[in-house]
Amino acid sequence: MAEKVEIFEVGPRDGLQNEKRRIPTAQKIALVDCLSGAGFTRIEMASFVSPKWVPQMADSGEVLRRIRRAPGVSYAALTPNLRGFEDAMEAGADEVAIFGSASEGFSKANINASIEESLARFAPVMEAANAEGVRVRGYISCVVECPYDGPVAPEQVAQVAARLWSMGCYEISLGDTIGRATPEAVDAMLAAVCEELPANRLAGHFHDTGGRALDNIEAALARGLRVFDAAVGGLGGCPYAPGAAGNVASEAVHDRLTALGYETGLDRAVLDKAAAMVREMRAE
Ligand code: HMG
Ligand code: MG
Repeated sequence: MAEKVEIFEVGPRDGLQNEKRRIPTAQKIALVDCLSGAGFTRIEMASFVSPKWVPQMADSGEVLRRIRRAPGVSYAALTPNLRGFEDAMEAGADEVAIFGSASEGFSKANINASIEESLARFAPVMEAANAEGVRVRGYISCVVECPYDGPVAPEQVAQVAARLWSMGCYEISLGDTIGRATPEAVDAMLAAVCEELPANRLAGHFHDTGGRALDNIEAALARGLRVFDAAVGGLGGCPYAPGAAGNVASEAVHDRLTALGYETGLDRAVLDKAAAMVREMRAE
């Protein structure tokens, strides 16, 4: 039987957060409901951040409350602080994610905190999540390059990963936020991170600005990673990462993994349907 590689769908969050036009709540819900029929077991579709910082995500609570919950799907939300965590719980998120950075410049621009301050802010989120038995994923942005600070040392990524891991994150997602990584740089970064924690607790999160995301996924597969974040239709980007293009498209990752002999468990026809919905949303 083919080995399983999971695609963690982040389109309704990482994808939509960067759309300039305000997407109607009903369209967001329809997209999530379509995606949950594609076979994803985790879908990130909400973000409990300041609506002044990311206005597109202001209706996250409503989206979470109104989706049709598919059995076996974990609906995930970003929570930068305790307030975000409490709102996510109230709206019914199954799991949450804290998000830090390997570079100081992006940390400041994205969450208005130094790396050290952000980790201190995450501590009460971890504590509350543990008390409620909720899984917490940890993101690290700018694992290869930062739009403000330039190249990021692999050891710096490894240090932040070790901290998030020791705080209790069940998985650490490593973000090439501006999509400029090369497979060689990804390999060097992963060599350092894998000194600190096992590859099967890591996920790759590649934006595709430089068109190398699929090659970067292959480099990460060779290092033992088996979870990759992607956004249907290649939606995405971060409003605080100038020049960053969309996430690598879920359907492209599915096709590459399938060609390499892996099993994703996804229904390609439903993925196509979701990608068409995204195209329509963006055309309006
Ligand atoms: P701050 O200004 O330092 O915090 O922002 P604050 O505590 O002073 O609060 C400022 C305002 O936000 C206050 O409102 C708070 O009430 C409100 P005001 O008094 O001005 O009216 N506030 C909140 N509102 C709703 N929900 C909350 C919340 N917390 C405070 N949870 C803060 C700090 C973290 C809040 C802010 O910087 C922020 O929201 N940043 C989010 C940025 C973001 O969402 N970026 C995109 C996601 S990360 C990403 O895309 C990268 C990733 O994909 C991986 C990769 O690609 O690398 C994950
Ligand atoms: Mg991202």
